[in-house]
Amino acid sequence: MAKSVVTLAHYYTTPEIQQMADKVGDSLELSLFARDAQADIIVFAGVRFMAETAKILNPNATVVLPDRGSTCSLVEQTDVAALKAWREAHPDHVHVSYINSSAQHKALSDWIVTSRNVDDIIAHLYAEGKKVIFSPDRNMGAYLNFQYGYDMPLWSAVCEVHDKFNQAALDEAFASVGGLPHALIAHPESPLPVLQQADYVGSTSGMLNWVKQYQGAANGVIFVATEDGILYNMKLARPELDIRQAPIYAGCQCNQCPYMKLNTIEAVKRAQQGEGIVIDYLSEADMDAARLPIERMLEFSSQYYR
Ligand code: 13P
Ligand code: SF4
Repeated sequence: MAKSVVTLAHYYTTPEIQQMADKVGDSLELSLFARDAQADIIVFAGVRFMAETAKILNPNATVVLPDRGSTCSLVEQTDVAALKAWREAHPDHVHVSYINSSAQHKALSDWIVTSRNVDDIIAHLYAEGKKVIFSPDRNMGAYLNFQYGYDMPLWSAVCEVHDKFNQAALDEAFASVGGLPHALIAHPESPLPVLQQADYVGSTSGMLNWVKQYQGAANGVIFVATEDGILYNMKLARPELDIRQAPIYAGCQCNQCPYMKLNTIEAVKRAQQGEGIVIDYLSEADMDAARLPIERMLEFSSQYYR
């Protein structure tokens, strides 16, 4: 009997890849979809940590990543042995890790969060009187510390895409629209000076919803500080609006995630035949240890998002 296949795509993949997918979403939505998928094969047109999370949540499925190179700089910049030592140096803290992390990293965590639920989960932990350490995204952690007055010790990795957004290029972009009204929405992986100027900070889905519900000036310009893939979804939802990617230098709208863009049509088609990087290399011990903090997050989030 032919094997059943579902294809998942993150918003940062190209429009062509999104059109090949059964489900397009942010990290949280795709994790939930992968967990509940009934298919024999899950093709994950995203990056490796997303495919690993899918495998951890749905271990009976064959999870295929289309391209070997689809990593994430937050994963690459985190040495797991050093992370373990850092965690051990904070024995009285809860370790909250962003989902953009390896399975071994997740296994060293008490909670996993995505950009969709990080504010709520950390607020919940502080309300319980807990002390928190946050990894791996330094920018996201700095934003949370600033926004809510926390004092979380932070791991120091960054997203190489979002870290390029900067104040100077934004100032030029705002000036370039003359007297037109403008707004800025930003992903929390961006640097703090960018986030401090934003009208909205949130996940990819959160930003897309903000655009869908936008009621501001019809002649306004909306700058988006995140990877360019999601501008496709935003323009599809509100074709009448002037939506532009925030520049990283004067005049440039060119900030892409090289790892997401490895999901080419050919690679995804091959993956749908079961050819690609099969996520079959994680040890049972790592998968079991990583599943606990992910499931804690999903259980917490279910009251809000399902
Ligand atoms: P989201 O969970 O907001 O989709 O973010 C994933 C990601 O990799 C952002 O760079
Ligand atoms: Fe990782 Fe940044 Fe690419 Fe997201 S955009 S997958 S955080 S490198």
